[in-house]
Amino acid sequence: MTFNWMANYFSEKYFPSPMEFNPDRWTDGGKAFEAEYVFTPFSTGKRVCVGKRLALIETKLLLAKAVKRFRIKLGEGYVHKMVQRNLYEPENPIPLLFEAI
Ligand code: HEM
Repeated sequence: MTFNWMANYFSEKYFPSPMEFNPDRWTDGGKAFEAEYVFTPFSTGKRVCVGKRLALIETKLLLAKAVKRFRIKLGEGYVHKMVQRNLYEPENPIPLLFEAI
């Protein structure tokens, strides 16, 4: 069983410009982030992931450490194209090169 999360992701109720690619739409503390049934990668309701806060902190720490230690570049030949699958996502894997600083 699932629910139509796309209806939320493209709703002006939570996102001022819902069709715009804007990763900041999920910024911590934002309207959509705090609304119970919009930000749902950790599920929601009574059986919500108990590790949600820990996982979010760990993810931020990992990203901060990676950005501090590596110069991250896009691999050659990558052509960016978004597609609508289960999520609105890049059509192909994104080749990233990590160069130690
Ligand atoms: C990116 C990391 C994570 C994601 C995306 C994630 C996602 C989820 C989701 C979707 C569920 C609900 C599954 C269902 O519907 O039955 C869940 C449940 C759960 N998660 Fe996570 N999780 C993450 C990390 C963690 C961490 C770090 C912990 C513990 C330290 C954790 C502990 C749990 C537990 C115990 C449940 C069961 C909660 C219950 O049924 O009452 N998760 N998680």
